[in-house]
Amino acid sequence: MGRIHGAFITVPLYTLVILLLGAYMAAAVLAVHVVVVPLVFKYSKIFQRSLIFGNFVQWPLRIDHEDPSSSGIDGARNLRVEFQSKIDHCAIKLGVWHILPQTVHDRLSEAFERTDKEELHRMLDDELVNSKTPIVLYCHGNSNSRGAAHRIKMYKFLKKMEFHIIAFDYRGYGDSTNVYPSELGVVEDALMVYEWLLNALSRGRVPPPVYVWGHSLGTGITSHLLGNLDVLSRRLLGRPPLPLPQALVLEAPFNNLADEVKHHPAARVSLVNWLPYFDLTFVAPFRVAPQHTFRSDEYLSRVKTLPVLILHARDDTIVPFEVGVQLYDDVLKSRSSGGAPVVMHAFDESQSLGHKYICDADNLEEVFRNFTALIH
Ligand SMILES: *[C@@H]1O[C@H](CO)[C@@H](O)[C@H](O)[C@H]1NC(C)=O
Repeated sequence: MGRIHGAFITVPLYTLVILLLGAYMAAAVLAVHVVVVPLVFKYSKIFQRSLIFGNFVQWPLRIDHEDPSSSGIDGARNLRVEFQSKIDHCAIKLGVWHILPQTVHDRLSEAFERTDKEELHRMLDDELVNSKTPIVLYCHGNSNSRGAAHRIKMYKFLKKMEFHIIAFDYRGYGDSTNVYPSELGVVEDALMVYEWLLNALSRGRVPPPVYVWGHSLGTGITSHLLGNLDVLSRRLLGRPPLPLPQALVLEAPFNNLADEVKHHPAARVSLVNWLPYFDLTFVAPFRVAPQHTFRSDEYLSRVKTLPVLILHARDDTIVPFEVGVQLYDDVLKSRSSGGAPVVMHAFDESQSLGHKYICDADNLEEVFRNFTALIH
């Protein structure tokens, strides 16, 4: 009897403790979600910046950027573009890969084995400058470097398409100068690589077409670059506007960063978007903060002569399909009275491409060729 009595007493006590603990923890979790996260988010520019650029994420940990083949892409060399930043007021060095088109690589494969490095660089400079096939300037998305696995897959696709590929890392990424990235900072980086490329190509007799290609956050960077090229050329290069490229390809783009944050699945999962002040706290900073707004919709509406191809998978869970459609609609509207073609291609869920693997789409080559046929 006594033991039963004891147990009877003990159980409710434990239960009470557990219940109290549970309530305490639930309250703590709620407090973190409702109070702490919003406050940190609203007032910490560094936190916002980290989420946007994700440049602290590096996987694999050690990438030898000096040797692209160690990341799985052959027929490529490593270069540097160096300049003085007018945004961060310091010297910047960017790591750049030049990847050869497949047939050029095949033709020169022996040179890669034998030739000394300087001679190889001279040969490849010559191939780039006198290229008869287009050049793709690839501007990657957030986190990791130009050596990330899904990027390598896209280079392989472009290489097979017989394009030269120029892929670089923004400041704060990969082996580039470790300065904290900002919107203007990474746009300056893209501008400098673009200028370097155009300068190199101007030494050839017939400059080949250049396609600028942005993925994810890179779509915000390239839209800012090309939509604002006249202002950026004057302000950061002190020269008349650089010419626009042949076309801009936007892979998994958003219309502007505020809407991307609003629709980001993390907002749903972390249970904060039901808060009455969600918009004010999480989204508003991206509308008003001059540093990071990535308003691609606005920028692209300024350059009606630039052909744009938008690629988006319907099952993208990082940048939802709807914000890609929104961008398409906005750009289309800005050209209602005429302008270069804007094409959007939606990839079906059945292909399971998601945010990073449009490179695996079985019809990507056809989509791209149809687009280029339209603009020539
Ligand atoms: C490419 O264009 C052809 C001819 O207009 C068309 O039949 C085909 O469906 C297009 N392919 C894609 C993937 O859009």
